[in-house]
Amino acid sequence: AAGRGRGVRKVPKGFERGLVEGIPTTMKALMLKEFSDDLSGVELQEIKTPSPAKGEVLVRVLASSVNPIDFKGMKGYLQNQFPIPSFPALTGFDVAGVVVAVGDGVTRLQVGNAVWASLPTQQGGKPLVMGAYAQYAVIPEAKVGLAPSNLNPLELASMPVVAITGLQALQSLGVKQGDKVLVVGGSGGTGSCAIQIAKRLGAHVTTTCSKKNMDFCKSLGADECIDYHEHWEDQATDVDGVYDCIGETGICSKSNKVLKDGGKFVSIAAWADFFQHKWERGVSGTMLQMDSTNAKTLETLQDMFENGEIKAATTKVFKLENIVDALKEGAKGHTVGKIVIEID
Ligand SMILES: NC(=O)c1ccc[n+]([C@@H]2O[C@H](COP(=O)([O-])OP(=O)(O)OC[C@H]3O[C@@H](n4cnc5c(N)ncnc54)[C@H](OP(=O)(O)O)[C@@H]3O)[C@@H](O)[C@H]2O)c1
Repeated sequence: AAGRGRGVRKVPKGFERGLVEGIPTTMKALMLKEFSDDLSGVELQEIKTPSPAKGEVLVRVLASSVNPIDFKGMKGYLQNQFPIPSFPALTGFDVAGVVVAVGDGVTRLQVGNAVWASLPTQQGGKPLVMGAYAQYAVIPEAKVGLAPSNLNPLELASMPVVAITGLQALQSLGVKQGDKVLVVGGSGGTGSCAIQIAKRLGAHVTTTCSKKNMDFCKSLGADECIDYHEHWEDQATDVDGVYDCIGETGICSKSNKVLKDGGKFVSIAAWADFFQHKWERGVSGTMLQMDSTNAKTLETLQDMFENGEIKAATTKVFKLENIVDALKEGAKGHTVGKIVIEID
């Protein structure tokens, strides 16, 4: 990948414990043994520490976080999009940590770099590449960004999936200064990050959320909040772009109603609704699958973090030992901000 930052920089605060002497032969990792609705099919195991292959780095993972793709995958709901190649499988996507070894052909990163990454593959139908819920993870160099200087591992680990997705979604809407953007679902992981990125891009931001979460969304910069239980499609008007983080029933026709002529819609979750819908009045829509191998995205986000334009919206921290409780909490569907996993 193209990119900045050859050479070892001083690691940001909190990353020092990733500067390890020697790599242990085994590590703790959360393994998916079988699909299960109650998440009884995942187990923390002691397994062989992986080695980086050509073009990969080995990262001592200091923190990770919960994304719906994690628990949906463990339940077996994503087999059409991202088949699990074999069991037991590694799990987890978001990584904040330190590079401890590099494979052949790695040119940009070095041992001692504090980094962040999101592990999902970018294309549907390919097997999932996972392994963030572990003490060590091998990651293709192209997916790895240098850590910003001002976030600790717990803060940075809340970002990869939601920030990469949010920036790419809002860029696909072509958001510019003064645009009216509606973030559907501002209180969750993707929405809480999107509110901040949309503000940074100069938008006037309206979001849908529960009444109880309005103060939280406003603290992230939302200009207006609409209770999603009270027909938001009758309240928002003249919107330039809708970023849908929820995929609720009827999302496309509701969005079509609130968008201006020629407005744009992007969704990361409306897979059921989207392909049935016919857009009207020049409105257009897309479904977005995040691309975690986009160097430009990683660099733009690094700058936004360092400028203090995106803050972590972490509301709960669990230890790796209690990760199944964290996943169960996430699966309830009421996460505010992000649930983060601290990995000793
Ligand atoms: N395509 C991609 O690349 C991509 C990337 C990332 C995520 N995703 C998908 O995007 C979705 C969201 O992810 P996430 O991390 O943001 O999930 P999340 O953090 O688990 O979202 C939970 C939040 O959603 C709110 N919510 C639920 N129903 C709502 C509704 N109808 N309107 C407004 N808010 C509502 C909940 O608030 P209440 O408690 O008030 O209901 C809660 O705060 C998931 O389906 C995920 O799989 C896709």
